[in-house]
Amino acid sequence: MSNKRLTGKTAVITGGGSGIGRAISLLFAKEGAFVHILELNTEGADSLVDEIRASGGQARAHSCDVSKQQSVLDIVDGIGTIHILVNNAGIAHVGDVEHTSEADFDRIYTVNVKGAYNLLYAVVPRMKQQGGGAILNMASIAALVGITDRFAYSTSKGAIYAMTLSIARDYLHHGIRCNSISPARVHTPFVDGFIAKNYPGQEAEMFEKLAKTQPIGRMAKPEEIASMALFLCSDEAGFITGNDYPVDGGFVKLNN
Ligand SMILES: NC(=O)c1ccc[n+]([C@@H]2O[C@H](COP(=O)([O-])OP(=O)(O)OC[C@H]3O[C@@H](n4cnc5c(N)ncnc54)[C@H](O)[C@@H]3O)[C@@H](O)[C@H]2O)c1
Repeated sequence: MSNKRLTGKTAVITGGGSGIGRAISLLFAKEGAFVHILELNTEGADSLVDEIRASGGQARAHSCDVSKQQSVLDIVDGIGTIHILVNNAGIAHVGDVEHTSEADFDRIYTVNVKGAYNLLYAVVPRMKQQGGGAILNMASIAALVGITDRFAYSTSKGAIYAMTLSIARDYLHHGIRCNSISPARVHTPFVDGFIAKNYPGQEAEMFEKLAKTQPIGRMAKPEEIASMALFLCSDEAGFITGNDYPVDGGFVKLNN
């Protein structure tokens, strides 16, 4: 018998073409899951699928904007049975409320909040019919403590935190577990991109500053989020639902 932790499971991972989602997709495939990656960035998703297949794993990329409900419904319909859903796709915005335009707010909300809802709307009825499943939402320490100058982003991750509780409660007796992870800063293209956009010319200095905001003195590696994701989505976590797990180098409890 296989000693892989996700043998026979089908997992849907949004935003799996880069950063944290990429690390989760690689690890889940290595542990035996068939991984379906829903991505805007088809280039990233396709190259990841090639990499997974080359090492003997099973994966498929689906070109998808998670904010478009019909596209999500069509893709989920085509996949069939789904045991694991990871709502990971997300985008960032820098600014306090006075520097958050209506367009900025709508953009963040549409991807980070409505995108997760769209997947839940499509996948939960299937899991219910199948008699269960595991759902993991990517929140952020921004949901727990608020981060300076991240009004729209923190608000969207607060919604993810509450969405996790709502799903966990409503589907407790349908065998569906729902949890979230709240990472502090993780070194991904997401972080590099926003430093380059918002602090041009000060990239190295900003990187160092952001690394030091974790009491542990560095940013997380995407693989460190993926290992928590694997545990929460595996049967070993069968008693865990309705919880958020900071993976944060001490950010929430040890700052000050
Ligand atoms: N990197 C961090 O420091 C950090 C910290 C806390 C939480 N998070 C959260 O983790 C998640 C992943 O972040 P990351 O750092 O790996 O980011 P990333 O930018 O490296 O990857 C995000 C992926 O999501 C995809 N995506 C964006 N919008 C999409 C859409 N509408 N439809 C489909 N795919 C879409 C992008 O194409 C990209 O491949 C996000 O939800 C983010 O908010 C990140």
